[in-house]
Amino acid sequence: MAKIIAGLGTSHVPAIGAAIDHEKTQESYWKPLFEGIQPARQWINELKPDVCIIVYNDHASAFSLEAISTFAIGVAPEFLPADEGYGPRKVPAVKGNSKLAWHIAESLIKDEFDMTIVNEMPVDHGLTVPLSLMYDKPDVWPCEVIPLCVNVIQYPQPTANRCYNLGKSICRAVESYPEAIRVAIVGTGGLSHQLQGERAGLINSDFDENWLDDLVSKPEELKNVSHTEYLREAGSEGIEMIMWFIMRGALDERVKQVYRFTHCPVSNTNYGLLALENES
Ligand code: DHB
Ligand code: FE
Repeated sequence: MAKIIAGLGTSHVPAIGAAIDHEKTQESYWKPLFEGIQPARQWINELKPDVCIIVYNDHASAFSLEAISTFAIGVAPEFLPADEGYGPRKVPAVKGNSKLAWHIAESLIKDEFDMTIVNEMPVDHGLTVPLSLMYDKPDVWPCEVIPLCVNVIQYPQPTANRCYNLGKSICRAVESYPEAIRVAIVGTGGLSHQLQGERAGLINSDFDENWLDDLVSKPEELKNVSHTEYLREAGSEGIEMIMWFIMRGALDERVKQVYRFTHCPVSNTNYGLLALENES
């Protein structure tokens, strides 16, 4: 039977990808970040998941305002890096796992999560930056990837509660798959940041630290925090944090915090990373 073996939360700041691609990780601005994520890299490289489900938001690379999916799952055998304005990142193509992705899609839909099924999509920094954070610069990504996109761009976004329950449904889907595949789930985005408008540059580290505490130990309470509070406390793009609930929901209620790291600022964000495993 397939199994969820780990959960990782991480910001997906595009400048992190650029720092890795352009060999800037040892420069003074970047060094503390790359030193800080090292234990998480070691952890994931020791765990060696066969498949990573990466929960992220497409930043108008694959989708546009012409059609907005609340939740979409990529079932293709391969996903190419998107051109985000400077040409595609020179990272390996992302290999999917169509068989498992279709199984998860079917299971989620039967469980009343009406996913958009995506046969072809380029993947942008929301997905490739977390991969680079985990695996640095390999010739081939060491795991297969199932992309899972969430609309956090256009009002109305799904509730954190809905995301949490989707995570639980993903866990049931994975655990009903007959092959012995080890799956990690990655929630991306955040932490607090606002890229536009009067409050551009907003960061709220106190909110983020309390939020990380509660995501680990009190997700059942934290999932009820409203979007208005995220907007007020964590800024307009802070709403990306709801995607971490899909990762958290896929784990048991009681988890072990293997590692946690924050660093501020990274580009316009408070960078956050959380490595979790089930206690049992
Ligand atoms: C930044 C952060 C993001 O999450 C994003 O999607 C784009 C830019 C930033 O901090 O620059
Ligand atoms: Fe983002």
